[in-house]
This record gives sequence, C-alpha cells and structure tokens, in this order.
Amino acid sequence: MSITKDIRYIGVNDRQIDLFEGMYVVPEGMAYNSYVILDEKTAVMDTADRHFVGEWLGNLEKALEGRKPDYLVVQHMEPDHSSGIKAFMDAYPDAKIVATAKAFTMMKNFTGTDYTARGIVAKEGDTLELGSHVLQFVTAPMVHWPEVMMSYDTKDKVLFSADAFGKFGALDFDDPEGWACEARRYYFGIVGKYGAQVQAVLKKAAALDIQIICPLHGPVLNENLGYYLDLYNTWSSYGTETDGVAIFYTSVYGHTKEAALLLEQKLKEKGCPKIAVSDLARDDMAEAVEDAFRYGKIVLATTTYNADIFPFMKEFIEHLTERNYQNRKIAFIENGSWAPTAAKVMKGMLEGCKNTTFAETEVKILSAMTDENREQIDRLAEEMK
Ligand code: FEO
Repeated sequence: MSITKDIRYIGVNDRQIDLFEGMYVVPEGMAYNSYVILDEKTAVMDTADRHFVGEWLGNLEKALEGRKPDYLVVQHMEPDHSSGIKAFMDAYPDAKIVATAKAFTMMKNFTGTDYTARGIVAKEGDTLELGSHVLQFVTAPMVHWPEVMMSYDTKDKVLFSADAFGKFGALDFDDPEGWACEARRYYFGIVGKYGAQVQAVLKKAAALDIQIICPLHGPVLNENLGYYLDLYNTWSSYGTETDGVAIFYTSVYGHTKEAALLLEQKLKEKGCPKIAVSDLARDDMAEAVEDAFRYGKIVLATTTYNADIFPFMKEFIEHLTERNYQNRKIAFIENGSWAPTAAKVMKGMLEGCKNTTFAETEVKILSAMTDENREQIDRLAEEMK
C-alpha cells in the first residue's frame, strides 16, 4: 500500500489478540503499523509485535524491491512496535538504528544487545537526510512512554505520530462507528493520564504543515486533519466533548439500577441532549472510562460494601483519578441498608480532582427506593440536565 509516491505501508493486522496490553478487549483486532520511505537512502519506521515479525519482514522485503534498508527509525520501544528490532538488525547488518538515547537504553533492556555502536541518537529537532526526504524528529515523552519521538517528513508533509492518533481495531475492519469511538477508548485508556504531555506535542505539531498522519495503530489519516487534531486537543485538555450526562452504576439486587434508570428517564423528559448509562459490573470498563471523559457531567450510583463502596465502582473511580480526571460536575446516588457511606467514600476519592464540583442534590437510598428518593432523583435530573 502506497501512502505517497515514496512511502509504503508495511504493517500487519493482529486478529489473534484477545487483550491489547493485557487489559483492553479488541474484538476487531489490532494493527501494528510500520512504514518504509524509499529515497536515495531508505528508512523503516518502527517494527511490529513479536507474533508478526516474520510477516512484517516479508512486507518490508517486498516494499524494498531488492534494495537494502539504511535506517530503522525506532520511535517507541513498547514491544507492540519494537519486537522486530533484533531480527531486522540480524537480517540487515549494515543498517543503522535512529532513536532517542532513552530508547537505546530500553532496547538493551528488552533485547540484551547494546545497539548504540550501530545507532544514531536523535534529539529534539535533529534531522535525517534520506535524499529529497528529510526526517525531522520531535520528541514526545510520555506519549506514551518516556523515550517516544515522532518524525516529520518535510517533503511529503507526513507526521509519523507514534501511538498518538492511534485506535483499536485491525485495518481490515471498516468501523461503522467511525474513527472517534475506538480512538477515544484507546486514548483515555492508554495515554489519558498524560494530557499535559500531549498538549506539549500538539503545540509543536501546530508549527508543522501536516498533510498526512501515519500513526502506529489504526488508519492513516489523510483528510480533514483538523477534526482529529481538535479531538486530541479536547481530550488532552480534559475538555467536554459531548453535552449531556453519563450515568455509571453498580447494583446488587436491582434497586440502585432502578434509581440510575429513573434518572435517565427524568433527564430525557427534561430535554438533556444526550445520556450514556453504564453498568460497571457488565459493560466494558474502558468504554465507561472514555464516557466519563467525554461528558462534562457524570453521576455515580453505587452501594455501600464492606464499609466502603462496591468493587467495580471503586475500580472505575481509580481509573479516573489515576488519569487526572478534572473539569467535571459529579453527582452521587448512594444505597446502603444499615450504614450508608458510599457517597462519602466516592466524594473522598474524587476530592483531589482539579476544577471539579459536586452536585448539591443528594440521593440516599436505604435499600429500596421511596417516594422521597424519586423526588430527589427528579431534583437531581433538574440540576444535571
Ligand atoms: Fe502501541 Fe505504546 O505502544
């Protein structure tokens, strides 16, 4: 597949994987993207996951059409992209690796080989001339690991963006939900904590004339780039993407669920523009996390459990706080049959979130809903709509 006249796609689709990074369900698989730039010199951009190194090397060999690669640019050392380094360097002993100093250290730790003697250390703003193509390196620490850099091809105006602008899903799948749904789940799951670092890279990218984005996962982006850049700006600044309310609940015997669904109904009746409801025990946790960051207002409904809160809700809130959750309005619905403490515990967990307010309306259920609870839920809908 040609990206431009001189840039070829040599990545692979992973349809065997069950959990990406050992945690994320990927029913439509995963793509590990890699590219080769063919000029007077040839540069290969990253490698692939360990299960696909043979296939990737085959793709590379075909794209090279008898030529030898001069450079392997290693933008990111996470094994989904770096597992082919050793096989590549064994197959092409004259090739040089271009990577940041941190990446060379990680390379030694992962492969057991110190490649610095066969390498070029890239720093911010360094360039690599391939002929008419010149790669300019842009460091991107913590997007998603500290050694990450991106590469900008000044001739074709292509940004090789490492993990940024990636999404879940193999490339043989035309996602009917479009790019944003699985890109958002991927972003908040994997990079969500590092909004400030993503913002720093976006500022550097704004100075470049980018026509094409070649990420390490998901499709190559070559039109309407403002759409993707705007979403990344919203996500990394912890802004609200969608007006409305997201409700997250856990329920043991159905009473808390009843309250969550009544709130959904009341919000609808009051004209709330969009409502998302997640059962944290049954729905995909990463989907719930992305919804919490997508909406500006959220409601957490759970039971008191072991003088604490129900485990799925606890895990969910920890996912939010460890990703620097902020800029939100949060409401609580608690249920407790003898010593309700859930609202207090949830509030305590979220108190440190920046620029976050808590709803005035409190809903306290003492086992099953009462008329008073229904009236509280109506008031909560009025406050949150
Ligand atoms: Fe796709 Fe951070 O590796």
